[in-house]
Amino acid sequence: MKLFDVYPLIDVTPAKAEGSYFWDVNGNQYLDLYGGHAVISIGHSHPVYKKYLTEQLDQIGFYSNYVKIPIQSEVAEKLTQFSGYPDYTLFLCNSGAEANENAIKLASFHTGKKKIIYFSGSFHGRTAAAVACTDNPKIVAPINQSENFVRLPFNDIEALEHEFKTNQDIAGVIVEGIQGVGGVQIPTAAFLQKIEELCQKNNAVFIADEIQSGYGRSGKFFAHQNADVTPDIISMAKGMGNGFPIGGILISPKFESSYGLLGTTFGGNFLACAAAKAVLDVMEDEHLMENAKEMGDYLVSVLQGQKNIEEIRYQGLMIGIDLAFPCNEVRSRLVKEFNMLTGNASTPKTLRVLPALNVKKEDLQKFANALIQILNEY
Ligand SMILES: Cc1ncc(COP(=O)(O)O)c(C=O)c1O
Repeated sequence: MKLFDVYPLIDVTPAKAEGSYFWDVNGNQYLDLYGGHAVISIGHSHPVYKKYLTEQLDQIGFYSNYVKIPIQSEVAEKLTQFSGYPDYTLFLCNSGAEANENAIKLASFHTGKKKIIYFSGSFHGRTAAAVACTDNPKIVAPINQSENFVRLPFNDIEALEHEFKTNQDIAGVIVEGIQGVGGVQIPTAAFLQKIEELCQKNNAVFIADEIQSGYGRSGKFFAHQNADVTPDIISMAKGMGNGFPIGGILISPKFESSYGLLGTTFGGNFLACAAAKAVLDVMEDEHLMENAKEMGDYLVSVLQGQKNIEEIRYQGLMIGIDLAFPCNEVRSRLVKEFNMLTGNASTPKTLRVLPALNVKKEDLQKFANALIQILNEY
């Protein structure tokens, strides 16, 4: 049977990995500056990650939310310490889209209202509600198109104020901590603060999608913490499990839970929680948020002002480098000539760089040298 052909794959077959590197089936070494869409947070095959997962598997790998699973509370405890949201509760699921789906549903349950505001350039996932608030008509099927989702221009305070004035049915606003797929676009602090204020005034729910920008990538645990705002729901996934599928939402105490309100078969299983616990323990022991900030600042300081780089937008290790031309050829050359993986974005000039949070300075230096060498040839 063939695979349903939906992915334009690069011609690399990883077979083994460690830290910021992997080796392909022929033993060639690659520097991974993309982490499979921002998923690798503590580095590939971290010894603590392997230990927690194998030890858990030796005991019990899976049961569903039908019995007590104490390791869920251990993850929640650790998150309390890291996230800055000690009185929020945690709902665990399996992916980013599912986290947003639950966040949106909860906003509507809580307010009794139907409309969700989202922004140009956004990406929130591919399931029904998540894709309906994603700004890419190509991936929104007719069945997902809905008047319940209102798109506004990103970072536009006036448009937001106008919508709240004229629309009485707003259940919530969803915004990425930093837009990832949209090209590493950073919301202004004033914009996020206005979302918070208008949601509070109008009984609407402020949802921060931290699926890509969260878990220490920005140098803070969540990127929105750079703007000093307090969302009502925060969605997480990607770096949370360093590759083991897990997602979740942090939920403000103003939301009441009731049996059956949300649910999942796989979410919060033993193995997923072992992965999530390993990530948080390693983040703490190795001071990875500090490293993300330091390494991001370092890379940008080396690249700033180089030939054919127009602009760099970044916080920590969430980095968007706008070239003077579309970046695809440069990305291919980085793979073929230097064995380095980077990402792209919906803005064609943007090279998206999302290294593991424990990436080393010498690896970033290698990348910068390669990129500068290529860019000097244009
Ligand atoms: C900001 C954001 N939200 C949601 C998602 C969807 O996550 P998943 O692919 O795990 O469903 C992504 C994935 O790229 C994302 O970047």
